[in-house]
Amino acid sequence: MQQPAMILRESLAVLRAQARNGTPVWDLGVRLFHWLLVASVTIAALTGFFAQRSALQLHLIAGGIIAALIGFRIVWGLLGGGYARFASFAFSPPSVLAYGRQMIAGRTARYLGHNPLGGLMVFALLAVLTLIVLTGTVTLGGLVKQGPLAFATSFAGGAQAIGLHKLLSLLLVAMIAAHLWGVWFESRREGENLVVAMVTGAKSHIEADPPRWKAHRRLATLICIALGAAGTFGITALANLPGLGVPPATQDPVYAEQCGACHLAYPPSLMPAAAWSGILDHLGHHFGEDASLDAPTIAHLRAYLAANSAEHWDTLPAVRLRSSIDPADPMRITATRFWRNMHRRIPAATFASPKVSSRASCEACHRDAATGRFAPQKIEIPEASE
Ligand code: HEC
Ligand code: HEC
Repeated sequence: MQQPAMILRESLAVLRAQARNGTPVWDLGVRLFHWLLVASVTIAALTGFFAQRSALQLHLIAGGIIAALIGFRIVWGLLGGGYARFASFAFSPPSVLAYGRQMIAGRTARYLGHNPLGGLMVFALLAVLTLIVLTGTVTLGGLVKQGPLAFATSFAGGAQAIGLHKLLSLLLVAMIAAHLWGVWFESRREGENLVVAMVTGAKSHIEADPPRWKAHRRLATLICIALGAAGTFGITALANLPGLGVPPATQDPVYAEQCGACHLAYPPSLMPAAAWSGILDHLGHHFGEDASLDAPTIAHLRAYLAANSAEHWDTLPAVRLRSSIDPADPMRITATRFWRNMHRRIPAATFASPKVSSRASCEACHRDAATGRFAPQKIEIPEASE
């Protein structure tokens, strides 16, 4: 029973000894940055590449942490001391090339901090991560109408950004693989476990001419706090602006009463005006029910639905649903190509379960169905057993 605890204690003792006896290289800021980045990028990548849409919130939290870490590292790279300074590993292109040539020839000088290629990788990783955060924010704004750029990003803009976001993420995975290879290669060559060095912050090797930049810790902390506060304030303020192409939802009381009597009063943004018109033309035979209304009420509903139909919205449900009406079944949202495709993995039994009862009961699984938004964070399939 005690063995795991003992192994842990012994490993910690080894790490502590190495930290005490080695040359300090990576300060606490660099190490915390590195390992928090590893954790948040792992979560962002797993939720981005593999998870369902309902995991979006976790993806966004990881992305937000990554953005904050990038901000911190830039401040730390400009004001931190020693090997944390960007200037300590910003080598000129010729010296990077020279280092690459030496490496191929198998004889490179040792560097206590980042070597020229490693330094270049740090800058490249920071640049690609920044672009991933930016394209992710445009995607979120355009497709989901959330976040600080929703007020200015169209659905089409978001659809373009997501392609770039995915491409950059694949590039990042390739770069991480190259980075891991570099760490393995240098560890073997130097006879120094660089992963352990990033934990303890110390290396056994001693450099003749260590960088002499002094850390301006207090100034860096102040700038980070100010940036964090301004960023949080700005992002929250921007995120609270109405999304582009998301008019304030109006719920007509006549519509709510007449068309919400048997099922959810479907938000008008879910269907194009022509489809709504078709439904109003056939109320006598409405999916096996008689939903007849008098002519003035129908005229009123027709005007309301036409003024608020999918054509007036730039949300994902409006854009996708209005362009995929099934001509053989034009009055059903659930017959559209988009709807069927989106819900194809849900078993028929789930729709038939008492808590859902029908494909048309959007609100059973989408907590924001009445708004027409259908945000990924608001999806929750009710448990069948309850
Ligand atoms: C008397 C009850 C009743 C009333 C009133 C009623 N409906 Fe329906 N509606 C139904 C039923 C039943 C269905 C089929 C639901 C299903 O497939 O589970 C349906 C389906 C629909 C669908 C298709 C849902 C899907 O599967 O995509 C739409 C759209 C719709 N109704 C719109 C309206 C509108 C607009 C009004 C008001 C003019 C209205 N309904 C009034 C009973 C009613
Ligand atoms: C049994 C539960 C259930 C019902 C009922 C249901 N949905 Fe869904 N819907 C889901 C799930 C789960 C997803 C996410 C699928 C995925 O991640 O691949 C989803 C995804 C969606 C999306 C995409 C959301 C996004 O991520 O951008 C839209 C839009 C949508 N549904 C609309 C509807 C509409 C409209 C109705 C009613 C006519 C409806 N759904 C009924 C479970 C349901």
